[in-house]
Amino acid sequence: MKVAILGAGSVGSTLGKAWARQGHTVIFGVREARSINVQVLLAEIGSQAQAHSLAEAVTQANVVALTVPWEAMPDVIAAVGDLDGKVLLDGTNPLMGNQLDAAVALAQSGGEQVAAWFPKAKVVKIFNQVGWETMADPHYGSDAATMFYAGDDAAAKQVAAQLAADIGFDPIDAGALSASRYLETLALFWGQLAYSQGMGRHLAWRLLRR
Ligand SMILES: NC(=O)c1ccc[n+]([C@@H]2O[C@H](COP(=O)([O-])OP(=O)(O)OC[C@H]3O[C@@H](n4cnc5c(N)ncnc54)[C@H](OP(=O)(O)O)[C@@H]3O)[C@@H](O)[C@H]2O)c1
Repeated sequence: MKVAILGAGSVGSTLGKAWARQGHTVIFGVREARSINVQVLLAEIGSQAQAHSLAEAVTQANVVALTVPWEAMPDVIAAVGDLDGKVLLDGTNPLMGNQLDAAVALAQSGGEQVAAWFPKAKVVKIFNQVGWETMADPHYGSDAATMFYAGDDAAAKQVAAQLAADIGFDPIDAGALSASRYLETLALFWGQLAYSQGMGRHLAWRLLRR
């Protein structure tokens, strides 16, 4: 698959490295393609990665991963157009600094807000609920961490699930895009355990069923 990754920070670079290792082509959409950080990242990944402007990156892939801070969304919207027909993997959390963007999170969810910003894209909420360290390696002993995802387009959800499974997650369908609110709450709870409870960032979710 060809995946455009908007943002090459902790989450974007981690997903890019992991997907490239599995044979996918990654095209980072960044503000400064020539920056040292981006050049080091490209050198590390090798020929399966490129970096362009955000606008250029999204023209080159049918799957787009959103890995920028919530505050960056106005810039991203201005840069990338309507993402018509593209699968949009929303890894963001609606945080302003460390605080929930209450205007969004209490009224609906970040995932639904992203879909409202990109009504022609097929939005799937995913990769928001654990730290990047778990995205780098989802294995905890013999268990694979769960990655929940939510969306309204069945084919887009299959793409999301496949990309999660490819890098070692156990993907679980959490339902319609409106269920993003639960995935975003899970991210907050992850932060509560990691920081307030002092458990550290190497923790993840695992769904048990019988
Ligand atoms: N960190 C985690 O473990 C984690 C886990 C799950 C979900 N998330 C969510 O994932 C998203 C990214 O988090 P992160 O930790 O990867 O952030 P990060 O390390 O700070 O990276 C953010 C990326 O977004 C880019 N960016 C920032 N402002 C921008 C703008 N105005 N226009 C275009 N690009 C911009 C940055 O580019 P520059 O290098 O040019 O500044 C950088 O590439 C956030 O929504 C976060 O809530 C994070």
